[in-house]
Amino acid sequence: MNDTLIREYFEELPSTNDYAKSKRNEGKDLLVVAKRQTGGRGTKGRSFSSEEGGSYLSLLTFYDGFPASKAFAIMQNAAAATCETLAALGLSPKIKWPNDIFVDGKKICGILIENVFSGSFVSSSVVGIGLNVYNRLDGLEDIATSIEKCTGKRYAVEDIERELVARLRLGVDEKYAGYLGWIGREVTLETGTERLRAYVLGVDEGGNLIARTQAGERRFSSAEVRISKEGL
Ligand code: BTN
Repeated sequence: MNDTLIREYFEELPSTNDYAKSKRNEGKDLLVVAKRQTGGRGTKGRSFSSEEGGSYLSLLTFYDGFPASKAFAIMQNAAAATCETLAALGLSPKIKWPNDIFVDGKKICGILIENVFSGSFVSSSVVGIGLNVYNRLDGLEDIATSIEKCTGKRYAVEDIERELVARLRLGVDEKYAGYLGWIGREVTLETGTERLRAYVLGVDEGGNLIARTQAGERRFSSAEVRISKEGL
């Protein structure tokens, strides 16, 4: 991580993650912020609705000697920094493993991380965060919420971003476990082909979900399963 962070602000971009990735060749830590995105990207190739009033940012960070085996700490840091920012507003955020942030049972923030590996090290990462501040949630009201809906107040997007970026740069990954939701609760896990009931026990160092199933305690990677929305 460089001490100096270059910051670039845009009215509109297709995707702040794509822009940050296009700047990797410059080798400097960079924060990219856009007021709206026309091609916001989510995980698993999904699109991410990015109307004005939300916070859309990507942080490009370069590392020296960061072991690939610890790459999950990047996700933990992003999720925990978001939760800390929301908790400071009086909200009670929960992480839906591995990387969605929920408040009052609805998604408020999504995170998309794109790492570059060099051998057994992470050489750089782009951490993309989309946080609903006061943007419209047309058609998504049943599953999504925003800071405005949860607090009844309209915060300036820039104020939220300042707090969030400060925590991201500080490093708060050790706080991830404290915000992990659904611990001790029974959920449905979905693979491409099967659904199974399991009790969430926690997350291991590699970012795998530890759950108790009928077949005993098992660990699942996020590529293998997802927690079904059903019953959350
Ligand atoms: C998800 O919920 O699936 C992850 C959503 C990540 C969205 C953010 S918004 C800023 C950055 N730019 C993108 O194109 N995606 C991420």
